[in-house]
Amino acid sequence: MKERKVLTRRVGKYEPLDLKAYKDMGGLGGLRRALDIGPDSVIEEIKLSGLTGRGGAGYPTGLKWGSAAREKKTPKYFICNADEGELGTFKDKVLLDGDPWAVLEGILIAAYAIGAEQAYIYIKGEYEDTFNLWGKLAVEAKKAGLLGKGILGPVGLQVARGKGPYIAGEEFALISSLEMRRAMSRLKPPYPSQQGLFGKPTVVNNVETIANVPVILAEGAEEYLKLGVKDEPGTRLFSLSGDVKQSGVYELEMGSGTLRELIDEFGKGTISGRPIKAVQPGGGTSALLAADSLDCSLTTEGIRKVGSSIGTAGVIVYEQGKSGVDIVKGLMEFYGVESCGRCVPCRIGVVRMKEIVERFSDGKGTPEDLEQLRQIGKACVVASTCGMGQAFPLPVLSALELFGEDFETVISKVPA
Ligand SMILES: Cc1cc2nc3c(=O)[nH]c(=O)nc-3n(C[C@H](O)[C@H](O)[C@H](O)COP(=O)(O)O)c2cc1C
Repeated sequence: MKERKVLTRRVGKYEPLDLKAYKDMGGLGGLRRALDIGPDSVIEEIKLSGLTGRGGAGYPTGLKWGSAAREKKTPKYFICNADEGELGTFKDKVLLDGDPWAVLEGILIAAYAIGAEQAYIYIKGEYEDTFNLWGKLAVEAKKAGLLGKGILGPVGLQVARGKGPYIAGEEFALISSLEMRRAMSRLKPPYPSQQGLFGKPTVVNNVETIANVPVILAEGAEEYLKLGVKDEPGTRLFSLSGDVKQSGVYELEMGSGTLRELIDEFGKGTISGRPIKAVQPGGGTSALLAADSLDCSLTTEGIRKVGSSIGTAGVIVYEQGKSGVDIVKGLMEFYGVESCGRCVPCRIGVVRMKEIVERFSDGKGTPEDLEQLRQIGKACVVASTCGMGQAFPLPVLSALELFGEDFETVISKVPA
């Protein structure tokens, strides 16, 4: 299993503000071609490439751009989502810091394709160094005629600093935050491409998604389709962490190996040398997989077939010796305070589930608690408005299914 550096090929190879070095390494070729072929053909090229979102939901990028471009309302906006809040996910930072001009080039192409004169990049609050870098990058880009009244016509970029909550990465909550309101999700439809920022057509794309755009434009969709597998072209940046000897971000062609190979070859096995107990393949809200499910192909479909999701490709490894209760306690400590409160199932459910998991961790859980955990989790999945409530119960539900005995053994022996 080998890394295939497409998006990361320039990372660390030039000083981040050095536009000339970026150009010398082939940068801006995608933008040049975009300007040559025009917005409609850019969208067609992205559709042809089969590019799907890397922010978690996997929606086809070209379709999203097409629907925003078709909207009559103006102005239109483009937002690059650099909030990177999902647990176990730290790949966007590699691109934002290591090849920022490629991300900017992707933003400019996207804005051009959908007809947006104003773009935003919403950078995770904790990434202070990245935020500072992007402030300087925007100044350099303006000097070079890439922003302002430049080669694309008027296009502005606002570099916004994330306000902190996990939910602010959800596209509507992010939009709400950019509007200087509390970050809260809302019901869809209407989708952001119809009614987004300030009620106008808006496209929100993840950093990694956008970093693919200059590659597709510069080399052509046909060339891009040679990467990965038929139904899933391209590469993915896997963030590998947890109980592995070597955590890091690894760029792999889709379907170029299995989850087990990724963990063994790049992670160098578990820290203690003990066998693996469980893995979350798609960030902290993806369902747990047991060790016997790790021979699945590293594709959306391969991971779905064994009962989880590729999500943000944040692979979190848990070694034997950890109980299922400990694993989900750590997760619920995080998600338990992150609901935006807009919809009841998530607002109430996440707190109740956190409390129940804590009772098990304190050896005070009851058989009724076990049943409640299942029922509340399932109710949140089906009844919540956004991806947060629909997904945070998945690791808990999967832990109950795979490691039910870990919960049974800590059921309180003291009558309630
Ligand atoms: C609770 C929650 C948090 C999210 N956080 C992020 C995030 O930090 N970064 C991101 O790109 N997408 C995040 N998303 C997904 C976005 O809502 C949206 O689908 C994505 O930015 C669209 O870009 P893409 O199509 O390029 O993936 C989150 C979704 C949910 C439900």
